[in-house]
Amino acid sequence: MTPHVSDGLEDVVAAETVLSEVDGQAGRLIIRGRSLDELAGRIRYEDVARLLWDGFFEGLPNDLGPALGAARAEVFAEVAALDTGLLDRSPIEAMRALAARLADGDDPAVALRLTAAPAVFTAAVVRAQAGEAPVRPDPGSSHAADILRMIRGRAASAAEVDALDTYLVTVSDHGLNASTFAARVIASTRAGLTSAVLGGISALKGPLHGGAPGPIIDMLDAIGRPENARAWIEAALDRGDRLMGFGHRVYRVRDPRADALKKAVRRLGEGSNVLPGRLAFAEAVEQAALAILRERKPNRPLDTNVEFYTALLLEALAFPPSAFTCVFAMGRVSGWIAHAREQLAGGRLIRPQSRYVGPMPREAA
Ligand code: ACO
Repeated sequence: MTPHVSDGLEDVVAAETVLSEVDGQAGRLIIRGRSLDELAGRIRYEDVARLLWDGFFEGLPNDLGPALGAARAEVFAEVAALDTGLLDRSPIEAMRALAARLADGDDPAVALRLTAAPAVFTAAVVRAQAGEAPVRPDPGSSHAADILRMIRGRAASAAEVDALDTYLVTVSDHGLNASTFAARVIASTRAGLTSAVLGGISALKGPLHGGAPGPIIDMLDAIGRPENARAWIEAALDRGDRLMGFGHRVYRVRDPRADALKKAVRRLGEGSNVLPGRLAFAEAVEQAALAILRERKPNRPLDTNVEFYTALLLEALAFPPSAFTCVFAMGRVSGWIAHAREQLAGGRLIRPQSRYVGPMPREAA
């Protein structure tokens, strides 16, 4: 019998997981038995990492904060390897190259170093690209507070730290998305956590996955005013472009993470970090995009995904758009590690098949 080929593995269930459930019909995300609403804006990033890793490592402390702080200080030594060749690369390529210097392994110390790595290396890369010296981590600080401090060279406000924690928690895990699947495939070969995380970073980088928020800022800037939205969007779709921040493989309704992040932008606005009118403008562009997508694709529900308000939130926190995907990696890394450990604990080598459609050798024809 000819095997069925599933384009994009859309209808394939490739793993059982206790880590997260993405309900694409109800627009609901559960992370280890808690709804996103119970977590986003309520716990720190180190606490969601602890929740995700629970049961997957021996002897984890209840508070991962001090160990993660020590890991940030430890991986900072690798920043010395940031040479001019790497600084010509995009932040995610430079960050990935520094992360590749970390030793492979499967123990909690490796996991903590890998969780620290995107934060410490991205901050150093962004500063070096702006001609500034790296800022040494503060092991006593919370992860989110230290990220903002390392990138800016000064402490951020409590509201900004809360907003970054909300973001990192919101994106910490999301079922078998492309980067998590990549990480699980690598883990299934027993290559080690560093290899799995490097694979995750590489898959995340693409614009169809974690690379969308930078281009969303470009789109908003190109549109400029709400009254230009319709014409700009129509022209983009006429060219065959996709609208970044819309559509999802699993959600057929609005991505619940979009609202969690929009709320965080609104809260930050009260502390006046958001450009005046920016949120209202983005909402107008979003409404125009949704209306046009409905007109053009009546049979395919396309709604707002996590990336649209990610762009606004990370912009409000003054991350450069070129580094937005690195910030996504800072959040998703704990999920990749949890999935890699889950795969190792119970899964077999992931090795699907392909159907050969090329020419046959003459003797077999
Ligand atoms: N803009 C315009 N059209 C779209 C969009 C979009 N954003 N998304 C899907 N479509 C259209 C496709 O062109 C296709 O139309 P067709 O059937 O007439 O050819 C139809 O909707 C179905 O699209 P698929 O490519 O089959 O959907 P898929 O599930 O493979 O893609 C994806 C999901 C990659 C997220 C897609 O919606 C997309 O490219 N969105 C823009 C990029 C983006 O925002 N990525 C971030 C996703 S969230 C995350 O990964 C963290």
